[in-house]
Amino acid sequence: MVNLDTVYLGLKLKSPVIAGSAGITETVERMKKAEDNGAGAVVMKSLFEDEISRISPTPRFKLVRYREGLRNNKSKNSFSLYSYEQGSEWGLERYSEEVRRAKKELDIPIIASINCISRKGWVSYAKRLEKAGADALEINLSCPHGSIIFRGKEVEKSILDTVRLVRENVSLPIIAKISSQLTSPAQIIKEIESIGANGITIFNRLTGVDIDIEEERPIMHQGYAGHGGPWAIHQSLRWISEIFPQLKIDISGSGGVSRSEDIIKYLLAGATTVQTVTAIVLNGYGVIEEFIGGLKEYMDRKSYQRIEDFRGKLSSRIKGTYEIKRDHYLKAEINDNLIPPCQAGCPAGIDIQGYVALISQGKFGEAFDLIREKVPFPLVLSRICPRPCEEKCIRGKVDEPVAINALKRFVADWQMEKGIESNVSVPNPPLPTDNSQLKVAIIGAGPIGLTCAYELAKLGYKVAVFESSSKAGGMLVLGIPGYRLPKGLVQKEIKEIEEQGVEIKLNTTIGKDLTWGDLKEMGYKAIFIATGAHKSKRLNIPGENLLGVMDGLSFLKRVNLDKQVEVGRRVAIIGGGNTAVDAARSSIRLGAKEVYLIYRRTKEEMPAIPKEIERAEEEGVKILYLTLPGEITGKNGRVNGLKCVPLVLDEIDAEGRRKPLPISASEFLLKIDTLIVAMGQSPDLSFLDEERKLKIGEDNSIVVNPITYATSQPGIFAAGDVVKGSSSVIEAIAAGKRVAVSMHRYLQGESLREDHQIDEVIVSANKVLKEKGFVEQKKRVRISTLPIERRRSTLREIERVLEEKEAIQEAKRCLACSCGLGCGICEKVCIYSAIERVGGRYGIDAERCDGCGLCIEVCPKENIKMVRA
Ligand SMILES: Cc1cc2nc3c(=O)[nH]c(=O)nc-3n(C[C@H](O)[C@H](O)[C@H](O)COP(=O)(O)OP(=O)(O)OC[C@H]3O[C@@H](n4cnc5c(N)ncnc54)[C@H](O)[C@@H]3O)c2cc1C
Ligand SMILES: Cc1cc2nc3c(=O)[nH]c(=O)nc-3n(C[C@H](O)[C@H](O)[C@H](O)COP(=O)(O)O)c2cc1C
Ligand code: SF4
Ligand code: SF4
Repeated sequence: MVNLDTVYLGLKLKSPVIAGSAGITETVERMKKAEDNGAGAVVMKSLFEDEISRISPTPRFKLVRYREGLRNNKSKNSFSLYSYEQGSEWGLERYSEEVRRAKKELDIPIIASINCISRKGWVSYAKRLEKAGADALEINLSCPHGSIIFRGKEVEKSILDTVRLVRENVSLPIIAKISSQLTSPAQIIKEIESIGANGITIFNRLTGVDIDIEEERPIMHQGYAGHGGPWAIHQSLRWISEIFPQLKIDISGSGGVSRSEDIIKYLLAGATTVQTVTAIVLNGYGVIEEFIGGLKEYMDRKSYQRIEDFRGKLSSRIKGTYEIKRDHYLKAEINDNLIPPCQAGCPAGIDIQGYVALISQGKFGEAFDLIREKVPFPLVLSRICPRPCEEKCIRGKVDEPVAINALKRFVADWQMEKGIESNVSVPNPPLPTDNSQLKVAIIGAGPIGLTCAYELAKLGYKVAVFESSSKAGGMLVLGIPGYRLPKGLVQKEIKEIEEQGVEIKLNTTIGKDLTWGDLKEMGYKAIFIATGAHKSKRLNIPGENLLGVMDGLSFLKRVNLDKQVEVGRRVAIIGGGNTAVDAARSSIRLGAKEVYLIYRRTKEEMPAIPKEIERAEEEGVKILYLTLPGEITGKNGRVNGLKCVPLVLDEIDAEGRRKPLPISASEFLLKIDTLIVAMGQSPDLSFLDEERKLKIGEDNSIVVNPITYATSQPGIFAAGDVVKGSSSVIEAIAAGKRVAVSMHRYLQGESLREDHQIDEVIVSANKVLKEKGFVEQKKRVRISTLPIERRRSTLREIERVLEEKEAIQEAKRCLACSCGLGCGICEKVCIYSAIERVGGRYGIDAERCDGCGLCIEVCPKENIKMVRA
């Protein structure tokens, strides 16, 4: 059990926390509140002899906020309480009466406070309050509103004369309250002690001025007023820690207490008691209890039983000028692994914060390079990515996520229009080994195969990609329709991959045109299976073989390869993924008048990209949610209808999902001319021969090591849709890069598992929002499309690209949540120019870093630390 008992001026206090002199201690009622909240004593509001000081002007408080000091620090913690509260409004009689009353009603010591202008005043006021029963008397020698001390030339002499005069005339304990603004306390406190004062209080508010620049006059009644606040504590601590070892009398610390830690600091510096005023003025008397609670918790944690166990401990630890250690053995280091959630949400880890910051500065080419450094398909991704990054964007907690992908499209299109070559493909530094004789075969020219090929080509390997179709690009050209992704853009990005040295052999199906044995004979040392998932799943309901029934992927492939496709007037599509939605929208473009999308779950559960579902509905696709296809009806061998059963959602089951239940009685017939079945795709592995008995898992997918992508046969790797089933392009690209790492390690005879480890730490949204403080709401940019009627009949791209001005505005919405571009505060403050940007990140040059530590202080993410040089 900790004990807070304190002996102060010979008086017994139940705690060292005192409610200091101010309006908060002017009446018995107010003093009682302080006592009830645990104050060990109260110093009453000062009684002034000068009658003008008994009237305070109104208003008399102003919180001066220092928000501008640190440009990126928007917190409101830094402030000064600027005030013009003068003395007690009473005369000596009334004040004495209040002392008498306080003595009767309170159990804690009552310390009266006086401020006089004549020798006669000091003597008579002191005597009268002693008679009224005050337990001690604080001599206010430091009032910021024209104290007596300011009126004479010899400040120190005046202080000492006053203390001496009061000491000679009363015998109750006396305290001199002084301010370091008037004089160096260390010089005169010893003399104050020798005169016979029992205590010293240091300090009062500092006198200061604040200026209204529009009116060009001092604010606060055009006078000098008192400044105080959390910032003021260091002034008192500095002097108390110096005078404590030299004094026997008690020191009361005053100034800047805003948390219990401040009370502890004062006690460590050597104070016997600690006074608090501003904290009570701004938060109420309850803070006294909080301070005491914090003090007890500290003592408990440190195993201190009494305050004397640690009081003054700090003084012995303060060093002189010649003792300070001056060797520079520490350097600053930035943690490279802190990333924003948007980047963590991007499977390929694109430096989103970085490129968005560059766009906000109008550096579009640099922004493009930052994206291109991570992915070889910026034009493609910027149009069809499902944007998992935006779901994670912290800005979304303020208003709406940053339009990250629209910004990517802006720079990708800008770069293309300007015809500027990206300069990120050239390997830098030069390759350590010559790999040009090592041949690698990739089966399938979809996004994963091409990404892996590109990465391996950058490492100098001789890469050939075998593609069964007449066009490279996989689903980018075979599945995704041109109104979402213009084919020319895909070809442009594939050409850049070829320019890196990748050879693409079209119309070459492995397992048909070339066997596995051929690949071996041709000298390929490693093989990557990137064949995707191209086998459409069947419905297995009656009528599936009728004319006019087709599968979604074959339908889209025909549309995409400009082959003849006909749809009837009324088309139904079964499914809820991207294939189903694309087939529905393509049907409209092919002239269908009524298009129904039949999906057995709810909109929220539909796997297609939400934006595309919205677009489909805008274009007139009628989506029948919670609807189960029953039987396909036909006439003369041709489909003419689809029987459907509506579903209702049952109670939540053990897996937390609500199971759909059919309402058979409500079955209905949808009259249709064409039915497109888009129930998903699985891999077609018929091309694997007897020798290639790879381990096959669920849904006909190839089983691989989830980190290295190695199959069950050495030197053969697989990834993308052939492993995961239908996924997304960005996931394919990300995996393609990781496969390249594994294949490279395999070809170099190294362990496969290394180089995959990423120790990233995601910055916390709460921390970011707290640090940013108030963020003004700004709507996300709206991306318009072609008019809906036009959309229904065109295969041209329907979404517009952002204008330059819009892109810059949108980029400025980014909160630059983590370390790197967009922040860069450390770079600006380092006077040694040791902090430099490489790409989107900042790093510290150990040679130039002086170890001054300023970057650590200003880094809002606490992402820099000192390490041994
Ligand atoms: C209609 C549709 C719309 C989609 N929309 C989106 C979207 O908007 N956003 C998104 O991110 N993702 C979308 N996806 C998913 C995305 O396209 C795929 O996840 C991605 O293309 C998978 O890449 P991949 O390289 O693994 O396979 P694929 O892109 O399928 O490429 C595989 C390639 O291998 C070739 N191949 C197959 N077998 C052989 C063989 N034996 N020999 C030689 N070549 C062979 C194929 O012809 C093909 O070119 C969509 C998919 C479809 C079907
Ligand atoms: C509104 C206000 C009125 C004050 N009035 C007096 C006073 O009458 N006499 C006095 O000695 N100090 C007075 N002070 C100074 C406080 O007692 C205290 O020394 C100073 O504010 C620093 O402590 P703090 O940071 O806890 O407020 C006043 C301070 C404030 C803010
Ligand atoms: S606000 Fe910017 S840095 Fe933060 S998550 Fe969103 S895009 Fe990323
Ligand atoms: S100041 Fe900004 S850029 Fe510099 S280390 Fe900190 S978070 Fe990173």
